[in-house]
Amino acid sequence: MIPNQWYAVLESSEVPRGRPVGVTRFGERLVFWRTPAGDPVCLRDACPHRGAALSIGRLQEGAIECPFHGLTFDPSGRCTLIPANGRSAEVPKAFQATGYPAREAHGFIWVWWGEAAQAAPEIPWFEELDATFSYGTIRDHWPVHYSRAIENQLDAVHLPFVHATTIGRGNRTLIHGPLVRWEDRPGLPRDRMNIWVFNELDHGQPARRAEDLAVPARRPSLQFQFPNIWHNWIGDDVRVMAAFVPIDDENTRMYVRFYQRIVRLPGLRQLFNLASLPANRVILNQDKRVVRTQLPKRSDLRMGEKLIPGDGPIIAYRRRRSELRGEGG
Ligand code: FES
Ligand SMILES: [Fe+2]
Repeated sequence: MIPNQWYAVLESSEVPRGRPVGVTRFGERLVFWRTPAGDPVCLRDACPHRGAALSIGRLQEGAIECPFHGLTFDPSGRCTLIPANGRSAEVPKAFQATGYPAREAHGFIWVWWGEAAQAAPEIPWFEELDATFSYGTIRDHWPVHYSRAIENQLDAVHLPFVHATTIGRGNRTLIHGPLVRWEDRPGLPRDRMNIWVFNELDHGQPARRAEDLAVPARRPSLQFQFPNIWHNWIGDDVRVMAAFVPIDDENTRMYVRFYQRIVRLPGLRQLFNLASLPANRVILNQDKRVVRTQLPKRSDLRMGEKLIPGDGPIIAYRRRRSELRGEGG
């Protein structure tokens, strides 16, 4: 995991009002709920008293009550009551529960995984995916480390093989580049990767290296935004977006959204979005069938794989991820 980043971790609708939700993210059991104002809260889902899951406790005016002995925690994680000690007893500071800053934006719940004091003000997002679009979501579970799921979506080489019957039709096996350009956000250098893909039918022409290609006038085919979201530009009015949510070292939750603004009429657009999902599910399953077999389950900068020029975006991702993890290159 890369510390000190905002990660998309759940969809907004997965954290309803009025009850806590327990999930595993970053290899840790977490509990989410909403304050009476609707703001998301995230604490470690293990009571500081004796480790019971707070997520099977109940909410009391925005605070959560542990189901085991009734210790109560406010949204900041402060323990406000130890019933057995009596209401009049002071609660020792040591009973503070550990939490992570949580926010809601773009239909996702985001968690700042790292030092709360360093939390960046902005949630990373593809600004183009604004309120003019609506979307339908596929949620899926992949038994892989999230780095493998991300790399699969940066991989232009797999298209004619894995997706021969769908988005990889046409046998365009020859890979020029791909071309990778980094973008910065203020204070966040090389935070977003823009990738242009140039796959062609192989007529015997040489594959051109990324350094010999100019940046085309067209939009990048793919964008990856650290630490865990991705955008595929299909057309002005049609996009695919994904969040790769780390559950633990061997499991990832996928949120794949089909965004469109062709059909905008409420009601009709939801139907259109729903109708788009089965085809996207087929494509996703084509990927999953192969990616789940990759060994080792998690990728690293130095792991003995024999890479080719077409793997450029994957190499760029691994390098930057390794730097952000403080591995010095
Ligand atoms: S384990 Fe939570 S109150 Fe005892
Ligand atoms: Fe794919």
